[in-house]
Amino acid sequence: MSRQAQPATDETEDFDGQYGEENAPGIEKARPIPRISIQAFCDDNHTAEILQYAAEDRRLSKAHVSVHMGGIAAAVAHYVDSPTPNLIIVDSSLRGSQLLAELDNLAESCDPGTRVVVIGRHNDVLLYRELLKRGVSEYLVTPIEPLQLMESISNLYNNPDTDPVGHVFAFIGAKGGVGSSTICHNVAWTLSEVLKSNVTIADLDLAFGTTGLDFNQDPVQGIAEALAAPERLDDQLLDRLLTKCSEHLSIFAAPVVLDRDYDISADSCDMVIDVVRQNVPYVAVDLPHSWSPWTKRVLLQADEVIITAAPDLANLRNAKNVVDLLKTARKNDRKPHLVLNMVGVPKRQEITLKEFEQALDLKAISVIDYDSESFSQAANNGQMIEEMNSKAKATEKFREIAMAMTHRRDTKTEKKQAQSALSPLAPLLEKLKFKR
Ligand SMILES: Nc1ncnc2c1ncn2[C@@H]1O[C@H](COP(=O)(O)OP(=O)(O)OP(=O)(O)O)[C@@H](O)[C@H]1O
Ligand SMILES: [Mg+2]
Repeated sequence: MSRQAQPATDETEDFDGQYGEENAPGIEKARPIPRISIQAFCDDNHTAEILQYAAEDRRLSKAHVSVHMGGIAAAVAHYVDSPTPNLIIVDSSLRGSQLLAELDNLAESCDPGTRVVVIGRHNDVLLYRELLKRGVSEYLVTPIEPLQLMESISNLYNNPDTDPVGHVFAFIGAKGGVGSSTICHNVAWTLSEVLKSNVTIADLDLAFGTTGLDFNQDPVQGIAEALAAPERLDDQLLDRLLTKCSEHLSIFAAPVVLDRDYDISADSCDMVIDVVRQNVPYVAVDLPHSWSPWTKRVLLQADEVIITAAPDLANLRNAKNVVDLLKTARKNDRKPHLVLNMVGVPKRQEITLKEFEQALDLKAISVIDYDSESFSQAANNGQMIEEMNSKAKATEKFREIAMAMTHRRDTKTEKKQAQSALSPLAPLLEKLKFKR
């Protein structure tokens, strides 16, 4: 709890921008905050002004900050049908059990990975302990100052004892040409649109990568420059090497020229991905279908691995090899995610989903039909499938993969289901289901 030494006070001096850096506490401690999304819900105008002031500071320039009024109740209502951001800040004048009850309501809508900071009025150690027990990351007591707030956020995301901010998702095909890159790009785009969180696609298929083409971009510089001198890569250089495709999506594009030699080392890959993950919450690594020490390292180091396979024997064998390798080398990690793609090609003999899942001892998170019309049209337009046709069947699949790999609920579908379960007709509908 910050400001423990000071008694609680309700004094609300008018905010007039008096929080100059020179005099403010926390100046040395507030480090730049990575590209996370922060949503604040305030009870009190003064706190909202301070949050807004902090949001305009250079340290928060990479983060997406929005400040709303209405306190915890407004937050609860908002997240009924919206996904939660990386950080929620709630400002509340409630006391003890009332505050805890409202926070419990909020917790019901919080997706995994979302952190909560509470700004309260009461300097109460017992309340502070209760809040920590419930998973609240920090409790600040008003009056707060912008730098103090930034220091608290910065401690949450820059603390060397806590995990780095970004999650790395490695996408690999069980065979060449099975759609791994297409899925990586569409899923990354969906993630950035649905969660409104920043996502970077790192295209490690240096000679033949399609990220630039798929997003209709032709960057002059990209990931090859970073890999050539990874020790020089810092936040500023990264900003220059990334190409922004939409508000929340940027690509670290492959050069796709053949007159260069690409001597990538596993260490340089590690260093580059580490810098990216310190700057964005989600990094989607598009791996080429080739096997080398660095592809292996990226797979073994990733937070989540997504293996795309087509339903044939060679894909099954290769997918099994990758799954077995990961199982042996990552004993304390979750299993990789399997996506079966290009299913249902007319007249093709295919291995069934059940056979695939049994052989790999892994349930597929998604099965995508072969759909030459949507996939070829989107690829040729340099668009994502949902941008081209939001009704295409694959769009739901990309959403399904995005939610599964981030271990989130599909807020829209689940919350709709929850609402219909609460409907007065729900018991009747259940009975009808049974009768059928
Ligand atoms: N479900 C699908 N139905 C029809 N075409 C698809 C499907 N999925 C991917 N494709 C198409 O297959 C082709 C290969 O896709 P992509 O480049 O994503 O594969 P990859 O596994 O990344 O290949 P590489 O081994 O070259 O990296 C692309 O033209 C893409 O549009
Ligand atoms: Mg590819």
